[in-house]
Amino acid sequence: MSQKITVALNEHSYDIQVGDGLLDQAGQLIAPLLNRPRTVVISDENVARHQLPRLEAALNSAAIAFDVIILPAGEGSKSFGHLESLLDQLLALHLERQDTIIAFGGGVIGDLVGFAASIYQRGIGFIQIPTTLLSQVDSSVGGKTGINTPRGKNLVGSFHQPKFVLSDVSTLDSLPRRQLLAGYAEVVKYGLIDDATFFHWLEDHGAEIIAGDRVAQIRAILTSCAAKARVVAQDEKERGARALLNLGHTFGHALEAECGYSDRLLHGEAVAIGTVMAFDLSVRMGLCPAEDAARVRRHFDRLSLPTRISNVNHPVSQAISQAGMTAARLLDHTRHDKKRAQGKVTFVLLSGIGQAFLSNAVSPDDIKDIFQTALD
Ligand SMILES: NC(=O)c1ccc[n+]([C@@H]2O[C@H](COP(=O)([O-])OP(=O)(O)OC[C@H]3O[C@@H](n4cnc5c(N)ncnc54)[C@H](O)[C@@H]3O)[C@@H](O)[C@H]2O)c1
Ligand SMILES: [Zn+2]
Repeated sequence: MSQKITVALNEHSYDIQVGDGLLDQAGQLIAPLLNRPRTVVISDENVARHQLPRLEAALNSAAIAFDVIILPAGEGSKSFGHLESLLDQLLALHLERQDTIIAFGGGVIGDLVGFAASIYQRGIGFIQIPTTLLSQVDSSVGGKTGINTPRGKNLVGSFHQPKFVLSDVSTLDSLPRRQLLAGYAEVVKYGLIDDATFFHWLEDHGAEIIAGDRVAQIRAILTSCAAKARVVAQDEKERGARALLNLGHTFGHALEAECGYSDRLLHGEAVAIGTVMAFDLSVRMGLCPAEDAARVRRHFDRLSLPTRISNVNHPVSQAISQAGMTAARLLDHTRHDKKRAQGKVTFVLLSGIGQAFLSNAVSPDDIKDIFQTALD
């Protein structure tokens, strides 16, 4: 059971194949894309522990020689230090310009390996095998790669499209539930941006996706990838429409920054809260029916994704309120959001479920009030 979609980017076009058990066929699927039967697999400790034996067996069965580089798990690996060490190891392995490397892990591994591939000998090919829901629906599509610096997240990077993306939903079985839920927030995002039918389907099937239903997971991933691919094909370098994908992210990034981008608040959790805030702001500005905002909040609540900062019953939110956030500090973070142009922050607002649009006419007072409401 597997299906393919193509990300249409002229000479950079590539396929995303989504299915159940694809990892065990990775050797045959990847072999035609390699210039010689040799590759390097880069992964992290958790993914290696749970899933690497399957990939190794698959590469062996297709007679593909490979080396494995395993990095520490977590955001800390998206750093200059790890990039330098990774490039050095690839050089030591005598990897050549026509070779292709494999990013095997979540968004951290995908972003780091993609960036390394984009600069190793001025650019080599890479294949993504994403193993988190977030990376299967988001970071593996679109070609953004990069690392963090002490001054902020994803501030150094490049656009470098993979040659192929292989998403196997069976790898999600070992993913912690909290990570699965965080990725699910990005799935919902696609419905809310421009596909109300998809959101309605998620209202009925979201719980199955979280419970591990393969058919529902495959459908959700394919729909999400197709949505992102559509936007990326229109706007590969993020000059316009691609900004809609930041729904909930300007608010979310402020929350993440206050938590020091730590495990206290996962990115997808911040996006869930931020999405509810984007709806609340739209309602406040008289742009969106209150019922639509309530419906989104209900959906997240039902699946136990956080929807507000100060929900004392939610361990995540407790940790955040203990961080001593204030609306003024959060507002300040939005002013430094990377997605600024000419000093203005663009917000994604909504006139309803499935009807997102861009606006840079949001008053700082309204934003501060929304933060304050979320903190109260
Ligand atoms: N390039 C883009 O367009 C883009 C888009 C969104 C997010 N991102 C980036 O993605 C990163 C977040 O990605 P993520 O949420 O996948 O985080 P991640 O890569 O850190 O993975 C989350 C955790 O799950 C573990 N894990 C991964 N797969 C597993 C599996 N199958 N079984 C067991 N454990 C597993 C990892 O070791 C890690 O501890 C951030 O750095 C973010 O900036 C990039
Ligand atoms: Zn995101």
